[in-house]
Amino acid sequence: MHDYQAPPELLKDKVILVTGASDGIGRAAAIEYARLGASVILLARDQNKLARVYDHIESLDCPQPAMIPLDLAIAEPTAYQTLANMIEREFGRLDGILHNAAVLGPITPLEQYEDGTWDQVMHVNLRAPFLLTQALLPNLRAADQASVIFTSSSVGRHARAYWGAYAISKAGIESLCQIWAEELGRLTRIRFNCINPGATFTAMRRSAFPAENPEKLRRPEEILGLYNYLMGSDGAHLQGMSLDAQPDL
Ligand SMILES: NC(=O)c1ccc[n+]([C@@H]2O[C@H](COP(=O)([O-])OP(=O)(O)OC[C@H]3O[C@@H](n4cnc5c(N)ncnc54)[C@H](OP(=O)(O)O)[C@@H]3O)[C@@H](O)[C@H]2O)c1
Repeated sequence: MHDYQAPPELLKDKVILVTGASDGIGRAAAIEYARLGASVILLARDQNKLARVYDHIESLDCPQPAMIPLDLAIAEPTAYQTLANMIEREFGRLDGILHNAAVLGPITPLEQYEDGTWDQVMHVNLRAPFLLTQALLPNLRAADQASVIFTSSSVGRHARAYWGAYAISKAGIESLCQIWAEELGRLTRIRFNCINPGATFTAMRRSAFPAENPEKLRRPEEILGLYNYLMGSDGAHLQGMSLDAQPDL
């Protein structure tokens, strides 16, 4: 699955929302999904960075994307409902969500972890994927088949000292994915799975491991096989799984 070669029209006519689409893995996945034929809804905080991804996709002659500047640290359910209404109006349905946006927060002992920072990390990394999925269920139900991908981390599966709210939010994401899958897997045509990208050369990785040699890391564009497999019809049999994008690490 991780070395999956996507057929060129894998996502033709699909509508896919990617959070954290302005940078790193989300940016690479959004561009890849557009190249494979999807109309991609790009969501992130930084409007200028989002606009650059938007322009890049337009320059590739892919389906026209949409751009949603939104701060997931402070967004409330009304913002997600507004997004659901917009998707309903503009596209009529949603075929996939890649929940990718996250913040690292400080690498620090829990004893010194500040409550405001805790809340911010939990809002972006766990509360937003929950509320966004909940608000967009009617859009996902309107698709023939829909794929929801959550983004985990190795510290979400096995916690490590000093990784604080980030690790705890990622453990929560694994549970969130399993519960959606168990509750809706048999009742709907929506599948819910989780990807652990593994060490990848991005701004987040640099801030977690500033002394690391970037030459040793894969680039976001190099880890997308599993992202394509789970989003497209070839991964339609998978439900409630937690998979590694780089199982060789
Ligand atoms: N890179 C790795 O080695 C690695 C390893 C394991 C797991 N992961 C996971 O993979 C995913 C992508 O990570 P990455 O390394 O690509 O990170 P990144 O380069 O730091 O990108 C994070 C993305 O999230 C968006 N974001 C952050 N805060 C936001 C907010 N408040 N509201 C809306 N969007 C927000 C950022 O956009 P703006 O700044 O424009 O808001 C950016 O597009 C994350 O879930 C991360 O936990 C990464």
